[in-house]
Amino acid sequence: MAFVDKYGPWALITGASAGIGAEFARQIAAKGLNVALVARRRERLEALGEELESEYGVRSLAIGADLCSDDFLSTITEALGTRHVGLLVNNAGSGMTGEFLDHDLDDELQMLALNCRAPLVLAHHFGRRMRDDRRGGIIMLASVAGIVPTPMFANYSATKAWNRFLGEGLHEELARDGVDVVSLCPGLTQSEFFEHVNVDPSNWPAPMRATIMSAEDVVKAALKGLGKHSQVVPGLSYRMLMRLSRLSPGSLTPWMIDRVMRFALPKS
Ligand SMILES: NC(=O)c1ccc[n+]([C@@H]2O[C@H](COP(=O)([O-])OP(=O)(O)OC[C@H]3O[C@@H](n4cnc5c(N)ncnc54)[C@H](OP(=O)(O)O)[C@@H]3O)[C@@H](O)[C@H]2O)c1
Repeated sequence: MAFVDKYGPWALITGASAGIGAEFARQIAAKGLNVALVARRRERLEALGEELESEYGVRSLAIGADLCSDDFLSTITEALGTRHVGLLVNNAGSGMTGEFLDHDLDDELQMLALNCRAPLVLAHHFGRRMRDDRRGGIIMLASVAGIVPTPMFANYSATKAWNRFLGEGLHEELARDGVDVVSLCPGLTQSEFFEHVNVDPSNWPAPMRATIMSAEDVVKAALKGLGKHSQVVPGLSYRMLMRLSRLSPGSLTPWMIDRVMRFALPKS
């Protein structure tokens, strides 16, 4: 089935105002789907939507919504009206690096709302419609930090493991309903994320910087894997690292990551 027939006519992409989400919007529009773009910075969504409309002849809709708010689903469904969503990209997310116990508990809970509650609510709402249609797709944004436990990024890492498990479980569960689900597990990817998590790769040694992937390559891998795999880890080096971590004794990988994170994070 062609991409548009399987996943059209509209894709809903959260966190489309920057980074990986904006790139999802570009590549999905290039495949001919209309795009409904969700984030808090609505003016960015409108500018991206205009660009995609003129470049690919699709339609766009900018939806300004805070996915941490209690009523974000009604904001989205009211804005969508009768537009039919066949592809959901649960992309918006954020994180906090550093010592877990030094963080404000409310900030950790906000992260949980954005990274877990919001994608759950959206997958449940749009998944039901897809099941009725017997077609559709859902992309869950996990991370390699959702495959290996990541000290100094512990709650974030746990939220990404949650996304990975939900996606991989639903992959099997919804396959019989004709709905494709994939968990995307990127490693370090160029975006605004580094600024938000207080990381500056320009200070890192070259081999570490070289592992940073472009959002373009990450999204290409995700769209290629949708409908084929339950999990996509973009980039050969990250796939090899994940294999190695599975082969090493349980506590070794978190021990090493703890050292790397303490090295990579700015000293206060
Ligand atoms: N970059 C990486 O190295 C990396 C690696 C693995 C996984 N990931 C995952 O990839 C996803 C996208 O991250 P990115 O790297 O593209 O980060 P980014 O450039 O910082 O983009 C994050 C997006 O999420 C949106 N967002 C944040 N808080 C929101 C809220 N409360 N309500 C609605 N939207 C909100 C932001 O839009 P507004 O600020 O306009 O609301 C923005 O569009 C995340 O789930 C992240 O965990 C990233």
